Amino acid sequence: MSLSSRKFALAVAVTALLLAAPAAAEAGKGRTSNQCVAGAPGVGDAYFPTYGNGGYDTRHYDLDVEYDPATDRLEGDASIRARATESLCSFNLDLVGLDVRKVQVDGRRADWTRSGQELVVTPKRPLSDGRRFEVEVRYDGVPVEFTIPGLPIRTGFMDTPEGATVIGQPEVAAAWYPVNDHPIDKASYSFEVTVPNPYEVVANGFLRDRESRPGSTTWEWEAREPMASYLATIDISNWDVHRWRTDTGLPVYDAVDAAITGGLRAEIDAGLARQGEVLDLLVDAFGPYPFSTVGAIVPNQEDLFFALETQTRPVYSKLFWLDSQGNPANADFVIVHELAHQWFGDDVALARWQDIWLNEGFATYAEWLWEEHEGRGTPQEIFQATYDAIPAEDPFWATVIGDPGVDLLFDNAVYVRGAMTLQALRNEVGDADFWEIIRTWASTKSGGNATTDEFIALAEQVSGQQLDDVFNTWLFTAGKPPFSTPAGQAGVARELTQQARERAATWLNDVQRRLAHGRY
Ligand code: TRP
Ligand code: ZN
Repeated sequence: MSLSSRKFALAVAVTALLLAAPAAAEAGKGRTSNQCVAGAPGVGDAYFPTYGNGGYDTRHYDLDVEYDPATDRLEGDASIRARATESLCSFNLDLVGLDVRKVQVDGRRADWTRSGQELVVTPKRPLSDGRRFEVEVRYDGVPVEFTIPGLPIRTGFMDTPEGATVIGQPEVAAAWYPVNDHPIDKASYSFEVTVPNPYEVVANGFLRDRESRPGSTTWEWEAREPMASYLATIDISNWDVHRWRTDTGLPVYDAVDAAITGGLRAEIDAGLARQGEVLDLLVDAFGPYPFSTVGAIVPNQEDLFFALETQTRPVYSKLFWLDSQGNPANADFVIVHELAHQWFGDDVALARWQDIWLNEGFATYAEWLWEEHEGRGTPQEIFQATYDAIPAEDPFWATVIGDPGVDLLFDNAVYVRGAMTLQALRNEVGDADFWEIIRTWASTKSGGNATTDEFIALAEQVSGQQLDDVFNTWLFTAGKPPFSTPAGQAGVARELTQQARERAATWLNDVQRRLAHGRY
């Protein structure tokens, strides 16, 4: 369902009005080509009005790309299967930079124009509502990179000394393939990536095949489970690959850049070896793991400061495993965080970017569950230590995480206050209802998209309580919320023991460490 359906309904109504006279004259002839509309240039996301497009739903992306690390040039042939949700005279794809060479719809040449990020495709004949079609775009060039707003930090399709790293949120996909670039329109993906030997490619999903020729190799990866566009990644380097299975039989494909060695490498390998244990904890909390494969990608890139929950196979900055003195350090928290996103962010994806706390608050809460698992404090203790540690005048409390605005989309408060919101909910409804809410959220929204309003409605339905107060306070009101004692624990929670405070401080230290690297 497109967010802009209302906008569309309006466009259709206006078109119908304009065509009323000729349509009457042609009554009985059925639809005329005049009745088609131009697909909207955005899905109607208030934060990013040009992201995505209206009028169709994508089903599958077949991305055939050739990349030469020596020249940074990419040559692409993208075939996208989609279904029209309006009668379309034309429709848009998002594509940033790159030169378009040819566009076909259902095997016939189509006209196209470009303006900004919009590639406007006009097929020979209109596409009727409900019709399945395939659009093929041939393109090439050097992919454009993005920077994170306010920070001189690279993201996107990044050329690296080792090859390429593809990681960005919300901007990345349109820099390397034509796309309906909004999480509301999920699709499955096939990647056929050709690189010169001896480069190697890792992507989402399963490695289906590898075809070697003298000089180059094509790596075929298959991501069957529907995926939001920003979660697609192809990463090019010389990888040490470790294929294994968790105790529950889930296939794991880990790729660590072969140039990462020594103590840092040992720390990374030790962390990745715990993915099964992390997943066990998350399955206990959230319900079944939503995908058919898992793993990690760790590039050697020095100026990558983030990790991203790329579906089935997160990409991690190696810097997470270095402390502030540059010594190898444990970073299990980031593995927990990115794997938690497989449920919240990936399987249950956003319908609009404004609701980002649904991703980051949940993934941060999973870190608190891990702290508890490791014996370093309960979520309530960490909640309270965090609450106590941040004074009311700190700008942290000023961010309205239910509507943070584009510039504060990944503000620290979205993560930490987001997790605090879940603990506040848990205290309000009690453990049994809280876990039922979380698991029902994961299972009923699986494979799709969701909004904050839907989460609140579910929480109220499961608990039978009116929860406006707690959500308004934590999500939609600037300022430090008044302290409230968890139900049934009067007098217990206010004074944390010194020991609990120290354990909770471990988590706060990790937060500081992450902030030193940028946000995560
Ligand atoms: N969602 C990522 C995380 O929490 C963080 C992130 C935001 C990011 N924007 C990004 C990562 C851009 C890489 C590039 O794990
Ligand atoms: Zn995150």
